Amino acid sequence: NNTPTALIMIFGATGDLAHRKLFPSLYRLYKKGRLTDRFAVLGVARRSLTLNEFQDSVKKSIVEFTGEQDGLDEFASHFYYQSHDVTDSSSYIQLRELANKLDEQYGLEGNRLFYLAMAPEFFGTIGDHLKSDGLTDTAGYKRLVIEKPFGHDFESAQELNNRLRQAFAEEEIYRIDHYLGKAMVQNIQVIRFANALFEPLWNNRYISNIQVTSSETLGVEERGRYYEKSGALRDMVQNHMLQMVALLAMEPPIKLNTEEIRSEKVRALRSLRPMSLEEVDQYFVRGQYDAGTIKGEGVPAYRTEPMVDPESNTETYVAGKLVIDNFRWAGVPFYIRTGKRLGSKSTKIVVQFKDIPMNLYYNKDTDEKLTPNLLVIHIQPEEGVTLHLNAKKSGSGMETTPVQLSTANQSIDRMNTPEAYEKLLYDSMRGDATNFTHWDEVALSWKFVDTISEVWENTKETTFPNYAAGTDGPQVADQLLEKDGFEWWPVE
Ligand code: BG6
Repeated sequence: NNTPTALIMIFGATGDLAHRKLFPSLYRLYKKGRLTDRFAVLGVARRSLTLNEFQDSVKKSIVEFTGEQDGLDEFASHFYYQSHDVTDSSSYIQLRELANKLDEQYGLEGNRLFYLAMAPEFFGTIGDHLKSDGLTDTAGYKRLVIEKPFGHDFESAQELNNRLRQAFAEEEIYRIDHYLGKAMVQNIQVIRFANALFEPLWNNRYISNIQVTSSETLGVEERGRYYEKSGALRDMVQNHMLQMVALLAMEPPIKLNTEEIRSEKVRALRSLRPMSLEEVDQYFVRGQYDAGTIKGEGVPAYRTEPMVDPESNTETYVAGKLVIDNFRWAGVPFYIRTGKRLGSKSTKIVVQFKDIPMNLYYNKDTDEKLTPNLLVIHIQPEEGVTLHLNAKKSGSGMETTPVQLSTANQSIDRMNTPEAYEKLLYDSMRGDATNFTHWDEVALSWKFVDTISEVWENTKETTFPNYAAGTDGPQVADQLLEKDGFEWWPVE
């Protein structure tokens, strides 16, 4: 069924995510004919708004973020609004009545998607009420789409999960990790499993190390309150970075269905070698940005950002070495790094192959080594793949020179986040949970990350701030690889 029918109830409909991502994504789906006329969106938020005001805000966001306005009035006529108190039953009962009415009016067959795009402290309460006030009692499907953060650590995530599971079954919970909606993240498995060239080499006999980098130029913006408690570890590593590692490391699934793919990812995460508290410093390092210059513009230090403690111990940068204890990967480090206020916005995976056993082209006079073969997967802003090879230098000798084979895709916005949301929303409406995180993945990722946060929260990092905005990050990140005889490949 390619044109799903549903009532989409968005909690947090006056918020940033709804305006930047959800409304524009729904509009694009509508324009592509992926939503028939049988859909309705019920926006829910605390603020009191008239129907007109709400529909106007929807239109405004679409014009602003898509630059289009074709058929906008008709599209916006599918949007409804209710001002809501998340803790008050009578508010949910009203919501239920409106939902039933829309069901009938649009022929929605009782299909309901509850999208929680708001402060996570209310996730549990909303889940409780959806059930106790009868909103989940519907003839069609009921699904919960839930934004990060899913908990703050393993324990809180488990508590939240247990609570949500009172109202929704695991198969009905769609935990968003928007990286899984990015075209090139989805491409990782295609590159691996659809190419005779790579799959046989994808192991510790031929790969020396894998590097996953996600660097940002943005700082913490207005999110200091959240970020102070989260830091880069919880904000990026627990979810996006570990998800990319799981996709790179997993075994081929026996089939391309949701269950098989997710269970291979779970197995990959299960083989992450756990660290003891004493070992954390050997494997993970942290950074915090100082003032600096980005694209010619001066930017402030993290500690002077709004809502940030002037002596904050929160990391805005993380680099780590992951060890995967299984037959395929024993001995191959996976290095990850991510940070805010770095020199460029770029997400990239570099697979470095081992040196060949002997260099026939070695020239004693020039002492030139062969550059290793690299497979670079460009996630963003460019989308594509580059293979670094060695070839003969033109001229009469037999000297080698590095050459590159590249493919490039064109993404809609060069940042491909909106595109990711569009895909994920569509998947959740069609009932395809493949690119959402299963509870088992969330649990394993938190357990891994919790050891690191325990150490970091209990030791004040005296070197903070340790990198200037606009640079490549702190020196400790380079030292992490130097110890193993490697270096980071440049992100540019
Ligand atoms: C979010 C984090 O999950 O991902 C943000 O909360 C971060 O802090 C963002 O900026 C990065 O996403 P993208 O798609 O721009 O790489």
